[in-house]
Amino acid sequence: MLTLECDNMKAPKIVRFIVIGVGRMGSVHATNLYKKRVRHARLVAVVDISKEALDKFKKTRKKIEQFSNYLDIPEDFDFDAVIIAVPHYQHLVIAEYFLKLGKHVLIEKPMGVTLSEGGRFNQFLKSYQGSALSSIVYNQRTNPVYRKAFQLINSGTIGKIQRINFIITDWYRSDAYYRENSWRGSFRLEGGGTLINQCVHQLDILSWLTGMPKSIYAKMRTVGRNISGENDVCALFKYENGAFCNLSVSAHELHGTNRIEIAGEKGRLVLTKSRLKLYSFKMSEPDVNKNTKKGYGSVRKNVKRFFYGIKIISDLLYGQQIRIVRNFTNHILFSEPLIAKASDGIFALELINAIYTSSWTNTEVFLPLDPKTYDELLRAQIKKEIDALEK
Ligand SMILES: NC(=O)c1ccc[n+]([C@@H]2O[C@H](COP(=O)([O-])OP(=O)(O)OC[C@H]3O[C@@H](n4cnc5c(N)ncnc54)[C@H](O)[C@@H]3O)[C@@H](O)[C@H]2O)c1
Repeated sequence: MLTLECDNMKAPKIVRFIVIGVGRMGSVHATNLYKKRVRHARLVAVVDISKEALDKFKKTRKKIEQFSNYLDIPEDFDFDAVIIAVPHYQHLVIAEYFLKLGKHVLIEKPMGVTLSEGGRFNQFLKSYQGSALSSIVYNQRTNPVYRKAFQLINSGTIGKIQRINFIITDWYRSDAYYRENSWRGSFRLEGGGTLINQCVHQLDILSWLTGMPKSIYAKMRTVGRNISGENDVCALFKYENGAFCNLSVSAHELHGTNRIEIAGEKGRLVLTKSRLKLYSFKMSEPDVNKNTKKGYGSVRKNVKRFFYGIKIISDLLYGQQIRIVRNFTNHILFSEPLIAKASDGIFALELINAIYTSSWTNTEVFLPLDPKTYDELLRAQIKKEIDALEK
């Protein structure tokens, strides 16, 4: 078992990882670990219920132990942590299983599918007496654009937030993507469509940067794909301070965009994936309004541009996800602060469940969302999907 630095004087050496699920994402994590791209971390085994996935992985990584069921990992097998990269409904069951064994757990996004299971998991984490640690792969929090925005908002640079516009239309997914794995694109097997799979990243960023809204009104639809989950969403968030957020999502639009604009009383932020533009006003809007004696009113502004293209090149090579695995490893060994705690997964989950609830019921939904109401609506949606399959 791993020795923690704080426990005694022995220098910690290595975190031995098992990756659970070596499909599209799990094989990226496993390869990064196998190729020793994360200092102080090693891959010791992979688990997958699919023989095909295991065989594919084995072709180039013969020495790595394989299991077809995580329950079959022998008690005396030496490992410290797992990365869970399986379909969403299984995330938290597996996470709890390994935490109870005293193993550190890194969960792929989303945390799970429903607010109720997320809430139960967070209760478990609170009451949990063990020493094992957990985190979630919210890799977009490593993007320096968002990190800079976080710092600017929290230092009060743009003042009280008045308006947010978030356009996320660059997650293009074709029918072939949904056919590749049968669990994708349905409420029954995945827990939703584009929101739960792709946009969970941006909804995490939104809640991280600006907090949770007070209410949500949303519409969603499926455009041009043979799936039951959504790939097109329009939502209006209202915040406690009166601010609005307009959210536009599409996964069927070519050459889409990913842009967030956050307007405050003292300035405005415009963010893309690699650029941030900060407008700072010489006087806040309420003061401009107070001091303007005639006509329209204006104020001098400063514009600062931040470009992070160079830093983002390494993300293109290995994926931002590697930074999360590095952070998690350093957290285990050296108590480095976590970029994303596993419990943080609940925020985006609540936003997603609330958007689905609003769209299904055609009502404005107030937060905190009632988890039971969502469970019932989800059950009804799943029944619809099953009925349609049986027809
Ligand atoms: N962080 C990111 O940027 C990112 C990107 C893509 C996917 N993901 C996430 O990674 C997870 C996996 O997605 P994917 O696209 O790799 O899916 P995938 O279908 O390609 O891979 C999932 C693998 O898990 C295996 N599996 C299923 N149940 C299992 C079980 N009980 N035990 C062991 N193996 C099991 C499947 O056989 C499959 O090989 C999802 O949570 C997804 O949202 C994250």
